[in-house]
Amino acid sequence: MKIAILPGDGIGPEVTAEAVAVLESLALPGLTLFEGDVGGIAYKRHGVPLPDETLDMARAADAVLFGAVGDPSCDTLERHLRPEQAILGLRKHLGLFANLRPARVFAGLEHLSPLRADIAGGLDMLIVRELTGDVYFGAKGRRVSEAGEHEGWDAMSYAEHEVRRIAHVAFRAAAAGGHPLTSVDKANVLETSQLWRDVVIEVAAEYPDVELDHMYVDNAAMQVVSHPDRFGVVLTGNLFGDILSDLASAAVGSIGLLPSASLGERETAFGTFGLYEPIHGSAPDIAGQGKANPMATILSAAMMLRHSFGMDAEAARVENAVAATLADGILGGDLGGSHGTAAIGEAVRARL
Ligand code: NAD
Ligand code: IPM
Ligand code: MN
Repeated sequence: MKIAILPGDGIGPEVTAEAVAVLESLALPGLTLFEGDVGGIAYKRHGVPLPDETLDMARAADAVLFGAVGDPSCDTLERHLRPEQAILGLRKHLGLFANLRPARVFAGLEHLSPLRADIAGGLDMLIVRELTGDVYFGAKGRRVSEAGEHEGWDAMSYAEHEVRRIAHVAFRAAAAGGHPLTSVDKANVLETSQLWRDVVIEVAAEYPDVELDHMYVDNAAMQVVSHPDRFGVVLTGNLFGDILSDLASAAVGSIGLLPSASLGERETAFGTFGLYEPIHGSAPDIAGQGKANPMATILSAAMMLRHSFGMDAEAARVENAVAATLADGILGGDLGGSHGTAAIGEAVRARL
């Protein structure tokens, strides 16, 4: 079982180290880890954010554990050289169109949420975010208008097959868990969204047992914090999913708690090939201070065990250890505590 570890920038290496230590402490036989450069660090060392060697390493692995990329000193580089292109390139080149972002308030941990406990208690949703299309991957550019003004533009589009395949992922998840499915779009304004909605309705015919509704994204943002219990599986596009998942993380308590799995169609000898990463970024404001919450990355490693290695029991062990650590009040600054990255990681390993 080969895992490519791509720590990246800022707090990426700090949180990844704790997740790797958790994986190592499980003492799984036959596990081999490889480490590669990605993001701003790769640009500085190799002149590009996603070196060929890194992409090859990811391709040769059964799963990828990714930290975060992003470096303020790279924000003025030409776009194709910026650190963020590394994660976008990995997703695209590896065909990882399905991004699963579970957001839930563990029972007994309602106090970590800024929401009222009775509202927070109902938060348990799986955001299924399309990851390789939308305005992220359309043409973009600058132009000068007839009036001589500079304009920036980004093309938003979805092809039917892109919507269909992510819709199937969401419907399967909803059917398996007996959850309702909410498709989130902006069909009242965007043609991309109207196509999205049409295709979702078509796919729904294959899942008669799944209760489907459609919600505009602005309303969905409001309902996530006012009535989170209305959501089971949330199916949405790349941009809306990006924003709604940060929102959901804040409703849980911290962005440092939300993991993700990015999956495609490739099967390995052990499970589905995937890339696993926290939903947060490189957090330059706290990088290098040992303050970052590693839970999101540790939970991402648990998702890897489940999806890429079929190790459901080990995944649950890790998730239970995380919940127990939080329940014991071992919290970082993001959750009002004073524990550092290493102390939190150690506490999780002690509870495995
Ligand atoms: P961010 O997620 O890095 O940080 C937002 C806020 O949350 C910051 O105040 C940060 O300190 C805090 N935070 C994030 N993760 C935390 C953790 N584990 N523990 C405690 N606090 C945490 O978002 P940003 O500041 O908008 O972006 C910073 C850089 O990261 C940018 O370059 C951005 O492009 C990049 N980014 C990368 C990814 C990724 O690699 N997948 C995701 C998001 C942002
Ligand atoms: C995320 C990040 C990325 C995204 C950026 C860094 C490209 O915000 O993984 O949520 O927008 O997908
Ligand atoms: Mn994001």
